[in-house]
Amino acid sequence: MELAGRTALVTGASSGIGAAIAEGLAARGMTVGICARRADRLAEVLERCQQHAPDSRMWVMDLSQLDDLPTFAMHADDELGGIDLLVNNAGIPKRRLATALRWDEIDHVMAVNYLSPVRLTLTLLPRMLERGRGAIYNIGSVAARMSPAGETAYSASKAALTAFAEGLAIELWDTEVTVHVLHPGIIETELFIHPDNDESYADDVEPLPPSAVVDTLVAQVETGQFEAYLPEWFADVASGKAANLQGYLAGAAEYWRIKRAERGEAV
Ligand SMILES: NC(=O)c1ccc[n+]([C@@H]2O[C@H](COP(=O)([O-])OP(=O)(O)OC[C@H]3O[C@@H](n4cnc5c(N)ncnc54)[C@H](OP(=O)(O)O)[C@@H]3O)[C@@H](O)[C@H]2O)c1
Repeated sequence: MELAGRTALVTGASSGIGAAIAEGLAARGMTVGICARRADRLAEVLERCQQHAPDSRMWVMDLSQLDDLPTFAMHADDELGGIDLLVNNAGIPKRRLATALRWDEIDHVMAVNYLSPVRLTLTLLPRMLERGRGAIYNIGSVAARMSPAGETAYSASKAALTAFAEGLAIELWDTEVTVHVLHPGIIETELFIHPDNDESYADDVEPLPPSAVVDTLVAQVETGQFEAYLPEWFADVASGKAANLQGYLAGAAEYWRIKRAERGEAV
């Protein structure tokens, strides 16, 4: 799908990757709708989007309030005159050993990272199909494919989103609506300074700027490519894991042992 002249709804656009995507899409000629909880940060992003796309708008929304999402999505669709591209970007980290996870943390990460994008997608999809065009773009994570130690709840939420997107892509294969997943590695954002999270073990991957995501998104949506990794070499790690899961798990356990030893944690 060509993007210029079309509309997009970008969730979680008050900072980081979502803000970069919203601004990048506006600069490429799309009218964007953005949402998140922090009104002040959202307003700053909106101002930058409106310099390119004056009809862009914002909604302050808590996406963990799942029952509100169908009404919100329909409203946003009406206001934007039909959403052509839904970017399911909003998400929260959960860096916590499985043995220390609380039930409410698992539920919350699942609500924000999995259930909320699914509700938005399934609300907007019938209208996209009716209009005969649309793209559903999901920000996954390499964690969905790598299942790193210390992030089980987060990885599971992103794996669920990825599996949902894969099945949906198959169901929509013969329609005009495309489905996509991007798996970022480490992007320099506030995700790594969220309170109520342990320190990340993934401290030896070179971080990329949030703007790096935009070109990949545009290329995927324009070509119809389902999946991409950023940086691209993570695709090789994912295929290596698929080819030898037992070996991958043993190697990942060794890596984690080394990381804990470096930090002086019990091994
Ligand atoms: N940074 C990375 O290295 C990396 C790697 C892989 C995947 N990702 C994924 O990329 C996406 C964006 O994260 P980021 O790195 O850009 O971090 P971020 O700067 O913390 O952005 C997260 C965004 O999600 C929004 N959000 C969180 N909870 C929300 C809620 N309940 N309702 C509405 N909006 C909510 C936040 O807005 P408010 O706080 O204003 O609500 C914010 O705009 C996430 O899905 C994350 O899992 C990031």
